[in-house]
Order: sequence, then structure tokens, then C-alpha cells
Amino acid sequence: MATTLLSQPNIAPTGALIDRYGRAITYLRVSVTDRCDFRCTYCMSEQMSFLPKKDVLSFEEIDTIVSAFVRRGVRKVRLTGGEPLVRRDIMDLVQTIGGHLGSGLEELTLTTNGSQLRRYAAGLAAAGVKRLNVSVDTLDAQNFAEITRRGRLAEVLDGIDAAAEAGLKIKINMVAMRGVNDAEIPAVLEWAHGRGFGLTLIEGMPLGEVGIDRVESYLPLRELRETLGQRYTLEPAAHRTGGPARYDFVKETNGLLGFITPMSHNFCESCNRVRLTATGQLYMCLGQDDMVDLRLALREGGPEALNAALDQAMQLKPKGHDFVLERGAPTVAVARHMSVTGG
Ligand code: GTP
Ligand code: 5AD
Ligand code: SF4
Repeated sequence: MATTLLSQPNIAPTGALIDRYGRAITYLRVSVTDRCDFRCTYCMSEQMSFLPKKDVLSFEEIDTIVSAFVRRGVRKVRLTGGEPLVRRDIMDLVQTIGGHLGSGLEELTLTTNGSQLRRYAAGLAAAGVKRLNVSVDTLDAQNFAEITRRGRLAEVLDGIDAAAEAGLKIKINMVAMRGVNDAEIPAVLEWAHGRGFGLTLIEGMPLGEVGIDRVESYLPLRELRETLGQRYTLEPAAHRTGGPARYDFVKETNGLLGFITPMSHNFCESCNRVRLTATGQLYMCLGQDDMVDLRLALREGGPEALNAALDQAMQLKPKGHDFVLERGAPTVAVARHMSVTGG
């Protein structure tokens, strides 16, 4: 009889990953590196210290962990960072994880800043990636340079062209910031929809010290939706991706506009995801500190201990985050930057 992974004697029995609140975990986000070639003002400080390279999981370890999750019912894997495409030999990992597509895994996707897409788009498509989320917070080259501190808009737009040429479906992520890029939202919307891309707006979250005033730039998306509604016809859409966004169809531009509202509306009751850091810690929530060290479990106890750690994680997954962004409140909800937890 052929030995399948499930029949290997050293792998514990499996079952769906259901947390204490009855939520099934079907979506794993994997931060493959906390490093990035940009330093977006809302994400990182100018002077960042990164995780020691020696602590970072090998591709083999990442694949072992991803495989364990897929056997336990995870259907969607997203590679994130930092910037996932700056990790050396990243395509080797993409190809390996792409190999699970069709055997339990239904979707492999990435969230990227787009800077390396010209180089990698065709390879991503060949490995089975069908869609990408790319961050574009502004279409003004000067503003782009200021927000990302190091990015070049032209390079990102060229990367997006390469991804479109490779047949990848693209969704643009834009962190909406009062006084920084809010005036440009209609322009980004019309550009994105004009090119057949989705656009999702995100509220800035207090993750890690970044040295900017997050209260000042916070833009409640509920308010913004009302303002946009005066200019466009927004029709609530049933579209769901398994992520936290709620979508409207914009009649005039013929495209989907998503809103991710962790600050003004908590969507945690339907949370289906957990996050693996580049060094192997599994965080059960972006905005809480509950964590299980999968690297330790794997290195010291092997596949069985890893499997048991997944059960432990389900017991620890918190009900939700409780972000507060007001004058006088603590400036960060958790000390980890988004680039560590993987967005
Ligand atoms: P789709 O599959 O396209 O829906 O993507 P996604 O929204 O799951 O992924 P993406 O990486 O584009 O996420 C966009 C942003 O949404 C993240 O970087 C976070 O800012 C936010 N986000 C995603 N998941 C969560 C979550 O569980 N909690 C909170 N607070 N924010 C989240
Ligand atoms: N709050 C909200 N979104 C953030 N991102 C990075 N840091 C933050 C933050 N503090 C966004 C990026 C990217 C996605 C992975 O997360 O712009 O689109
Ligand atoms: Fe890099 Fe993305 Fe953070 Fe910008 S938001 S610094 S591109 S990880």
C-alpha cells in the first residue's frame, strides 16, 4: 500500500481545528520574513531591528508546519511578511507549498508591496498562485516615496503590470490615512477598477511603535463610506474571500470596494485565521499576545508535538482584539509590528 502522509505512523490523528468559540480555522497566514525593502510610516519605524536570521524557520520547517495545518483543514495559505518576495530563494517555498494545491489546499496567495513582482510574477502564476494583494497607498510618486520612505512608485506599478500580464488577479490594499492619502481615494478607486483590480481600504491599527501619531491619521472607514456614497453608488455585495473585508459594488466604476474596519467595527466573531511568524511562533490574533511556539514543538518533539501544539493553540485563541485609539490611551495594542505577525 502506498504510504500517504496520513498513514505515516509518526503523525498523530487529525481533526478539524475548532477553537473554544466554535470558529473553524481554515486560513493560515505565514510571515516568511519580517524584513522589508520599504519602511511604511504606519507599519515600521525608520530604525527597525529585525529578527535574527538564525532563528528564522527553514523552508522545510515552514512546509512541515503548513502540511500539518492542511491535514487539519486549512484551505487557504497566504504568504506575507514584511515583504515575502525579499526572502532569498522564496520561489522554492512558493513551489513547495503550491504542491499542496489540489490535495487539501485550495488557495495559495501572497500579500506583497509589489517591488519584486516584475521578477517573480510569472513564476508565482506557474506555481499555482491565482491572485495577489498588493499595497498601493497613493498614486502620487512623491507621496509614495514619503509614505514608504524607500519605495519607488514606478517600480511597483511596473510590477503590477507584470502580475496582470501573468494572468494574476489583483487586489489593491490601501491604508486610509486622514491628511495623508484620503484625498486620493477616488483616484486610486478609479485607477484600480479601471484596470479590473479590486480595492480594499484598511483602517490603520496600533501595532508596534512607529513614531507617527496614529490618532491624528486615523480615518474611520464608516465615515469615509458615507462620504464616498455621495459620489458613487455603493451596493453592498455578498462577495467574500475568507478575509475580514466587507465589500460594496461600485456602480460607476464597475468594481468591488472592500472595507477592513478593525478599529470601528470588530469582525472577530467570524475569524477563521491564525498567523505564523518567520521564527515559528503561532499567533492566534493580530491584536493579542497569545502564542504557541511551533518551532520549539517541532524541533524538540517532532510531528506529534507539532500536532498537539495546534490543539493547544485552539484553546488559546482569544475571542477578539480590542484596539483603542484615543488620546490618553496606550499608543500600541501589542508591541509587535504588523511585519512580525504577518498582517
Ligand atoms: P483576502 O483574501 O483578499 O480577503 O485578503 P485578506 O484581507 O485576508 O489579506 P490581506 O493580507 O490583504 O489583509 C489585509 C489587511 O487586513 C491585513 O494586513 C490587516 O491589516 C487586516 N487584517 C487581516 N486579517 C485580520 C484580522 O484577523 N484582524 C485584524 N484586526 N485585521 C486583519
Ligand atoms: N495597520 C493597518 N494596516 C497595516 N498594514 C501594515 N501595517 C499596518 C497597520 N499598522 C497593511 C499593509 C498591507 C497589509 C499587509 O497590512 O499596507 O497592505
Ligand atoms: Fe513593508 Fe508592507 Fe510594512 Fe510597507 S506595510 S513596510 S511594504 S511590510
